[in-house]
This record gives sequence, structure tokens and C-alpha cells, in this order.
Amino acid sequence: MANKIFTFDIAKIRNDFPLLSQKIYGKPLIYFDNGATTQKPRVVIDTLSKLYSEHNSNVHRGVHYLSDQMTKMYELARQKVQNYLNARYVHEIIFTKGITDSINAVAYSFGELCVKENDEIIVSEMEHHSNIVPWQMLCKRKGAKLRVIPFNEKGELLLDEYKKLINSKTKLVAIVHVSNSLGTINPVKEIVAIAHKNNIPVLIDGAQAIQHERVDVQSLDCDFYAFSGHKIYGPTGTGVLYGKERWLKEMPPYQGGGDMIDRVTFEHTTYAELPSKFEAGTPNYIGAIGLGCALDYLTTIGLSNIQNYEKKLLDYGTTKLLALKGLKLYGTAKNKVCIFSFLLDNIPAYDTGIILDKMSIAVRTGHFCTQPIWDHYKIEGAVRASLTFYNTLEEIDFFCEALKKIQKMFE
Ligand code: ALA
Repeated sequence: MANKIFTFDIAKIRNDFPLLSQKIYGKPLIYFDNGATTQKPRVVIDTLSKLYSEHNSNVHRGVHYLSDQMTKMYELARQKVQNYLNARYVHEIIFTKGITDSINAVAYSFGELCVKENDEIIVSEMEHHSNIVPWQMLCKRKGAKLRVIPFNEKGELLLDEYKKLINSKTKLVAIVHVSNSLGTINPVKEIVAIAHKNNIPVLIDGAQAIQHERVDVQSLDCDFYAFSGHKIYGPTGTGVLYGKERWLKEMPPYQGGGDMIDRVTFEHTTYAELPSKFEAGTPNYIGAIGLGCALDYLTTIGLSNIQNYEKKLLDYGTTKLLALKGLKLYGTAKNKVCIFSFLLDNIPAYDTGIILDKMSIAVRTGHFCTQPIWDHYKIEGAVRASLTFYNTLEEIDFFCEALKKIQKMFE
């Protein structure tokens, strides 16, 4: 049978995302804020609507038809995430309300199990605040210390410095897979291997990686992998924590309540098996099913097709932005995704963002929840255009012309 050749029909793909055809201030929207959240394909929106209109019923609780059906769909969504990450067991997939929730869960539960006074946790200088603050809170609780891997001017981690930080007190490495501010794709497989040589587990923050990179948790051999649903074209308020079975079995639950128990008396409570042990209360089952639907959608398009197309956007955008006089790009790592953080000379980031908005271009300005990155460069923050596979080369052209107009306005 001949191989079916996938043609990346950008018009057709854009048509799958209803929001993209909107006009803002009477002009076609250019949505370059995908690092903050991605738009949803119609199939996800329709699925959510159908679930609420025709199927809604609480999971794991009812003896009735609707509850049974919803439970099956919820558990099928878990299998879809398992397949997407190539996790060994389906019970290694915990649904959360987002990556922040996932990381806080590990910081609390793993922290209770393994971290004591004078221990150390390693993070990097390019972490999002959600992969710094939970560890700082843990360190404060336990009297432990946070150690930080620095990065170079291009925004690449210094692995030799990382190796020097590892010692017998290191209890965990928590590292970002792809930087939301610099776009850098970190060599997480190597980072895990170095940690594992020293018997140290690793958590990977995959918030900005899962929608661009192939993630195989068995091949990475990471101990924890976390991401948010809304950044991978799924519903807000959904997230995933993958954890190796051996850790999740040993770690105590971080929240108590319904569905996470085996038997409750006033004297003592025993907990449910995985994954329920970590899913107290009514889960966001409709959101999780929507996330499963988003993963199906991506699988249909094919991640390698997406990656090829996004590489074109990255190369084209980088060349055009570097050619713009008076623009400084932050994050020029060799291996990166299509995220452009920059400043125009003598023009505050906020002003650039506001004027771009008036030209119907949506970007983010400020520190992007990574203040230590901007401390490194000794600036307050930047403007960020974060692109994904429904953006186009023409949009990049329009964007660059808009930047030139802004420069003229400030001359
Ligand atoms: N973490 C998200 C961003 O990078 C909100 O914009």
C-alpha cells in the first residue's frame, strides 16, 4: 500500500480553530500569544458542549448508566495521555488542574517523603516561577536549600555547572524542558542521565514542550513529567502529572477527600490505589476528556508534520527579526522552539505590546513569570511572540512591518 503523504494545508488547519478567524479592532487577528495559552480546535469545543448537553454525570460514583459511561470516557482519556507520553502504566497518569498543581503536588508529597534539613533541590535559572516557588516553599518548610544551574548569554544551560552542583545532599532535580521565555529546548535526557548516575530523581516541567516536542517518558527515563492541558489545545483547568509507579506508590497523598480513600473511620483512613490516591474530590472529568480529544486531534495532524512546519516559522522569523535594526532578541539557543522574546531599542516593552495590540497582533509583555531570567540580562522583561502550527509566514511579515512602524513612531 502506498504511503499516504500528509500535506500541511495551513488554510484547512486554521479553519479548525474558530477563534482565529476573528477580527480585532476591525482587522484580522494575529495570535502570537500561544505561550500563554493556545486556541482550541472546533472538535474540542464541540466535544465539551456535547458532554455537558448529553452525557454529564459524576465519575466513579453512580450505579447508573450516565455515570458508568462518563467514568469509561474519563478513564479512556487517561489511556490517551498514557499513550501520548508512552508511560508504562495507565495509573502513572494523574489528572490535575494544571502544571502548577502538578508541581506543587510533587513538592509536597515527594518533599514529605524524601526531603529533610540541609538537603538540596536543583532547579535552573530559566525556570518558570511555578517550578521555583513550590521548591522554595518546600525548602523553607524543611530547612533545605535551592541550588541553581546558570545559563549562558544565548540561553543555554551550563551542564558543567550542573554537574558541579550535584552532591550527596541533592534530593531532586526540577528542570524545564522548553523555556517559555527563551524558547530553549533543554537536553533533558542528558540531564536525567546525569542525575540518575547519582541516584537523584528528576521532575520535568513540560508546559511549553508537550505541544512542540515528542515526549516519551520511558525513553527520557524521567521520574515526573508535568504539563497543562490548555497549552496543548485542550481545555483550561486541566493538567497532567506523570510519575513513575515506584514514586507514586510511596509518596503520601497531598490532598484528602472523596474518591482518594479506601476506608475512613474517625481513628484512621486508608487510601485508594493509584491513580485515585492523588485525585481527591470530583475531578475535572469533562476537561480531561476534552484534553484527550485535543491529543487525538494532534495525532491526526502528526507531530512530525507540526515540527517541520514550526521549524519553517522559526527559521523565517529568526532571520527577519535579526535583520531588524534596533531589535535585540533574547534566547538564541541552537535548539529552540518558535518563541521570540525581544526589545526594541529605547521603547518600553509595554508600549510595544500595546501598539501591537492596536494593530490586532496579540503578544505578551513583561517578565512572563520568569523574573530570574530577566535579572540575568539585567532588564525588567521583554515582548514575547510565541508561535505555533496555525501561525503563518505572512503573519510574521505583517508583524515585522508593524515593528518597523512602531520604531518610526518613536523616532
Ligand atoms: N506560563 C504562561 C506564559 O508563559 C502563562 O505566558
